[in-house]
Amino acid sequence: MKKKAEKIAMITAYDYPTACLVDEAGMDVVLVGDSLGMVVLGYETTIPVRMRDMIHHTRAVVRGVQRALVVTDMPFLTFQTGAQAALRNAGRLVQEAGAAAVKLEGGREFCPQIRALVGAGIPVMGHLGLTPQSVNVIGGYKIQGRNEAAVEKLLADAQALEEAGVFAIVLECIPADVAARVTASLSIPTIGIGAGVHCDGQVLVLHDLLGMGGRLHPPRFVKQYARLGEAMRQAVEQYVREVRQEAFPDAEHSFASEEPAAPPDPVVQKTPDPVGHKK
Ligand code: KIV
Repeated sequence: MKKKAEKIAMITAYDYPTACLVDEAGMDVVLVGDSLGMVVLGYETTIPVRMRDMIHHTRAVVRGVQRALVVTDMPFLTFQTGAQAALRNAGRLVQEAGAAAVKLEGGREFCPQIRALVGAGIPVMGHLGLTPQSVNVIGGYKIQGRNEAAVEKLLADAQALEEAGVFAIVLECIPADVAARVTASLSIPTIGIGAGVHCDGQVLVLHDLLGMGGRLHPPRFVKQYARLGEAMRQAVEQYVREVRQEAFPDAEHSFASEEPAAPPDPVVQKTPDPVGHKK
């Protein structure tokens, strides 16, 4: 797609219904991000996310995706300690959870791990710029690559990651002109998040894009395409009201014993499948 100058669309998903939805919307890549720690599990950072969380959510996403590439994040401390640990944990994400590829955060210091995974047949996506697993070292969720030394480091890290064998690199929260320089310097695609329009693709956290981040405020670079959180709250409030007022369930949503049991009379109505799922 980079060679053909076609932009790559990537989004996160963490469960079966949203995986079906984003796949049917034509997404190229679905990321089971460790952002699930914040947007799904309610942690303050991604640091508490464990392998068991990633495996559980990746399995659900894989069941929903029929077409897109499913990439799963390697959580904090599952690869940083060495190539053997990286291989064992990435192997579980691919073999037990069904991911097609893994993503790991960090620069050239992790090239031995990347080489080990790629050598074993596990495709790896890199992640540079703002790397949320290092939030306690960086000192907060700040824009990266703002001086020439930091830009030189980014360029060198990106080059090293490409040479080690990653198939794409996420660039998070860096100035658009810096992302353009990194993108131009690589033959593999860059996927930007808060990194401007010149990356080869874009990624956003699904809950941010849909406006359903709970009490979390989305970062400035997020464009909210819907306000589903508000719509969900209103629907649930209406349900609460109707239960209390005995307006629900009404006759339409109840069974009467004298009704003729016209066959077939399914208790559970299956929605017709719009895309002809085989399952
Ligand atoms: O965990 C995540 O969702 C990510 C994206 C923000 C790129 O790493």
